[in-house]
This record gives sequence, structure tokens and C-alpha cells, in this order.
Amino acid sequence: MKRKYPNLCKPITLGNVTFRNRMFASPIGSTDINADCVPGERTKAFYELRARGGAAAVTMSELVVHPETDGSHMLHLDLQTVGSLASFTFCADAIRRHGAIPSLEFSHSGQYAGTYMADKNKKDSLTQYGPSDGVREDGLKVTALTKEQIDDIVKRYGEAAVLAKRAGFEMIMIHGGHTWLLNQFMSPYFNHRTDEYGGSFENRMRITIEVLKEVRKAVGPMFPIEFRMSGSELFEGGYDLDEGVKIAQAVEEYVDLIHVSAGSYKFGFFKTHPSMFSEHGMNVYLAAEIKKHVSKPVATIGGLNDPEQMEEIIASGKADVVYMGRALLADPFLPEKVVSGNEDKIVKCLRCFTCMAERPTTQTRRCTVNPLIGREVEGTEVLPASRKKKVLVVGGGVAGLKAALTSAQRGHETILCEKSDKVGGILKCEQAIDFKREMYELGLSLEKQAIEAGVEIRCNAEVTPEYVEAINPDTMILAVGSSPIVPRLKGIDGANVVVVNNYYLEKEKVTDSVVVLGGGLAGCECAIHLAQEGKTVHLVEMKDTLAPDANIRHRPILMQMVDKYVTAHTGYQGMEITKEGVLCKDKEGNEVLVPGTSVVCAVGQRANRDIVNGLLDAAPIVREIGDCVRPSNITNAIYQGYHAGLDA
Ligand SMILES: Cc1cc2nc3c(=O)[nH]c(=O)nc-3n(C[C@H](O)[C@H](O)[C@H](O)COP(=O)(O)O)c2cc1C
Repeated sequence: MKRKYPNLCKPITLGNVTFRNRMFASPIGSTDINADCVPGERTKAFYELRARGGAAAVTMSELVVHPETDGSHMLHLDLQTVGSLASFTFCADAIRRHGAIPSLEFSHSGQYAGTYMADKNKKDSLTQYGPSDGVREDGLKVTALTKEQIDDIVKRYGEAAVLAKRAGFEMIMIHGGHTWLLNQFMSPYFNHRTDEYGGSFENRMRITIEVLKEVRKAVGPMFPIEFRMSGSELFEGGYDLDEGVKIAQAVEEYVDLIHVSAGSYKFGFFKTHPSMFSEHGMNVYLAAEIKKHVSKPVATIGGLNDPEQMEEIIASGKADVVYMGRALLADPFLPEKVVSGNEDKIVKCLRCFTCMAERPTTQTRRCTVNPLIGREVEGTEVLPASRKKKVLVVGGGVAGLKAALTSAQRGHETILCEKSDKVGGILKCEQAIDFKREMYELGLSLEKQAIEAGVEIRCNAEVTPEYVEAINPDTMILAVGSSPIVPRLKGIDGANVVVVNNYYLEKEKVTDSVVVLGGGLAGCECAIHLAQEGKTVHLVEMKDTLAPDANIRHRPILMQMVDKYVTAHTGYQGMEITKEGVLCKDKEGNEVLVPGTSVVCAVGQRANRDIVNGLLDAAPIVREIGDCVRPSNITNAIYQGYHAGLDA
């Protein structure tokens, strides 16, 4: 069979291990770790799904090698805890039985110990050890590691490697990037030591080389070792790409794969984890440059999810391996779809940061587009129903589409009725905003999957009780969504006003000078987009805070973008819309005209309860999901749709 992406599908051998293709699953920290630091069943199931989806390597993370001087997470994987070996063995086994190579990431977070720790008291009680004495940006004291501590850390890398190999891991990733400990030593910004571990390049590399030698000694000559590094720290005072090249050259003798990531945890989180505002593959240039100067294989990472782009990266020799983190949360089966030529069925990551926001918030893992993530142990298969039913789904937004798809996958006769002429709901609005294009495409992808699963989609079909009676379903799922709130302001019905949901249809009505009314997530994103189109944009928000509905990871970058592009006015209440702008009252009660010849109204959504209430008794079993229950986000819509479909 001729593969559509021959380079991505080509095996690669590192040390004495052959990997089935060039698509590797990057480390995504586990969440289900017990008080003894032992990975639990959920952790195992999480990594197993990544392996089942066809990735060539699946990296489990992060094994804290030296808990005495570290403690980056609420809990950590600790291979040395009595009794933990079996759980690690089960994890490695679960990855390998699907043809993927199990890899384990070793890490030490150094002076950023406690970074992801939810327990503030525990965090503050930690001693933060780094290369040099100092004070962290958050005021916490950093204590320089002693020579004895360094020796012990190095030794423990080796001991952990022996155990990892025994547990069945077939590759070890040494984390030397993202401002974790080894990176802190390499970095002239963090390392001010005057002993043999600081100063010259050679001295700053010393601990890393010692670690790599110790691990090599532990695992033997042919066992693959991978070094994860930031190609450049990408902040003022950190090391640059030229130094990144030197680092790669310094480590290549000891490793089998040089994994080139980017940026730093503290300064440039969004370069390490490219956001929806960045180009896909924005960090590939770092790997490509490093590859020119080393002879060992090089891996790249950062916002990759498009098979064409990834194929080109390998084909053109920019890298030998592509790693994906979030793309494989959205669709663990992405690699299998690439290999089998079903790339049109890939569900794309939205880069919305729900995956990252969820852990500090609820201590679980979640993905907006994939309801299984973090819940794999509850079952990853949609099984046929024991009795075939007739299911009517009312509303073709994201919740309705997901419910209908899942219901059809259960084998039910499923009809989806949509009032308008196209399904997709609110996601249709995202087609006009470049950086939200993948949200729009999610709607298209769900529609396609639903049709393929056998859902009968009826557009322009307004559902009444009589309509339901004629269909006579066993179960009806109401997913009738929400409608934009339009405030009763003088001038709101003027020709210069566009409701944000209609922006994609009425783009030309928005002039070069625009006021966005409403600073929630939708308003902020629309304002950024309009400003990126070259318009002068003012944003008006009644509350003191912009986008409180954005998650804790997306919000900081959203705010950076607002600061960069938009003039924001918080605490401003819109009073009247005129041809010259929006007349507002500020906090002191003064009248202020916020200028703009057009206005985009984005003040929120209201659940379509009247439609729900009119249909509540129209079928024997009625289930309500998505925005018609309470306006929310895509994450909830997908999750509720999936479970309503399963329950049907
Ligand atoms: C939810 C989440 C957890 C992560 N956990 C780890 C980790 O434990 N260790 C690590 O080195 N990187 C971790 N990363 C970083 C990823 O491995 C990867 O470098 C980053 O997400 C960029 O790749 P992507 O754009 O393909 O997601 C994590 C990323 C995410 C989104």
C-alpha cells in the first residue's frame, strides 16, 4: 500500500529499538498518582489510549528523581517508593501491548519546585533548590544546591534509570528544557555559581553531562536516551539558539535523540505551549537549525497537528521525529488516521488550554473536544445498545451533533433536527476569526462523522410537539442552545450594530473604527481579531474584569493580546449607541463617548428555555444538554452530548 505520508510513517531506529513511525506522544503529566507517589489505574489508562491510537512512542511523565530537593507537583511519580515498581511495570506494559514504545521522562524542577502544587501550605514549606542562591519572581527564596546534593542527584538519575528499565520502559527522556533544573544550570540567567558547575559553558553543562553519563552507565550502550531541551530560552538574558546548538552538540555523544522544544516555564509559557494565536509549528525552526549541526536524530514539537505540515518537516529534513502533546489529547488516534490515510477524520486540538487549566483547578485532566481524556478508565468504546431505539436530537450545535453521533454509534436510529439551514450552531460564527478556525472545523468534522455514523440530519426543521409526535421517538435530546443577549439600548437596532454571533455573515458592516460592547471571552477574542485585521478597536466592559469566563491558562495570553491590540475600558456601562460610538457611564458616573463608527455587541448568551419548556412533555424520555441548560463552553457541550448519546 502506498502511504499518503510516507515520511511520517517510516520507522526509525534509536539505539537498539525500532519505533513504528515518526509520530511520538510527548510527556503529559499524570494526574492519578496516590499518596505514595504511585501511578494509578487512570494514569495507566490515559497513556494506554495514546498508545492504542498509533503513536510510535508514548512518554509517561514526570518522574521526580530526587524528591528530597524537588517537589514540582502535588504528588510525583517516584520509582523508589516501596511497591511502586509494579504500577510502573503495568503502565509500561499497557503502552507496549499496542505496539508503542514506552518512554519515561525523568525530571527535577529545581528552583521551580512546587510550581503545579495546589496545596499552598505545602508549596510554601518546600525549600526551593536551584543552581544559585536568590529569590524567585514570586518572592520565594532559592537555595543553591551543594556539591554533595548535586552528586546525590546525579547518582539518583542512574538508580531511577535501572528501575525504569526493569519496569519495561524502553526509552528514557531526560528533561533538560523549559527551565527545569538542568536547564537552570545551563542558563546564564539562573546560574551564577563560581564553582565547577557555573561560569563557562563547559561548567554550566557539567551536571547535565554527569547525569547523561550516569544514565548511560545504568542502561547500557544500546538503550535509547533522549534529551529534552529548549532550543532557545526565548527570553531576555536566557540562552539563544546559537547556544542551543552548542548544548545539542555537547550532549549528542551521550544520547540517541535530541528533542528540541522551546522557551521557559517562567518566561514564555506560550512559546513552549503555542496558543491559538500562534502559527502551527512555530518552534520548528529551532530543531531545523540544531539538526544542521549534529549527527544524532532530532525531534521537534509545538502546536503540530497537521499531517501535511508534519510530513514536510520530516521530508525536508528539518527534523527526524515529530512530537505531539495536545493534538493527541484531542485525537489519540491521529497517528493511526495518518498511517491509514484517514487524515480527514482527525479531530483537531483547539489549543484552548482546557487540558492545562483543569489540573490546577480540579486535579483532573480534561480535553474540550475529547470527552474521554482523564476518564479513559471509565471506558473508551461506544458499545452497541442492547435494544435499538429511535432517538430524536433537537438542535444541531456542538452538543446536539455529539449526542446524535454517539447515539448513532450505539446503533440507534437517530434523527437530528436543526432549525436553521446548517448545523454547527455557535461554531459557525468562528469561521470568520482566523485563530478560531479549528473551532469552526470541529463543527464540520462532527457533522461529517454524524452522517457517516448514519444520523439523518434534517435542516430547516423547526421541531414542535406535533413534529415530535409524528416521529414518535423513544428518547428526545434537547440541545436547542442559546441566543445572544441584545441589551435594550437606544441605537442598538441601528445599521452600524452587529451582534457577534452574526459577525461572520455581516463582516462588511464592521468599519475601520469599532467598539466591541462586552468584554467576556467572546468579546475579547472578537476585539483581538478585529484589531489584527487593522481596525481601531475599543472594548467596553461593565465589570472590572475582562474575560472572567476564560480558563486560567488561556486568560493570561488573551489579556496580553488585548493589551497589545485593543483599548479596553472596564467599569464602563454602555448607555446609548450613536453613529459616533457608544455613550458610556464610567465608574464615577461621568458620561464618556467611546469612539467607533460601528459596534459589535457581545454581551452574552441566554438559554433558549422557552423552546425547551415547549417540548418537555413531547416524548417519553427527554434529556436537556448544552447551552439550553445554561450557556457554557464547548467542553461542556461535547461532554454532555457524548453522555446523553451514550445514555440514549
Ligand atoms: C496538559 C499538559 C501536560 C504536560 N505535562 C508535561 C510534563 O509532564 N512534562 C513535560 O516535559 N512536558 C509536559 N507538557 C508539555 C508537552 O509535552 C509539550 O511540550 C507541549 O504541550 C507543546 O506541545 P503541543 O503543542 O504538541 O501540545 C505538558 C503539556 C500539557 C498540555
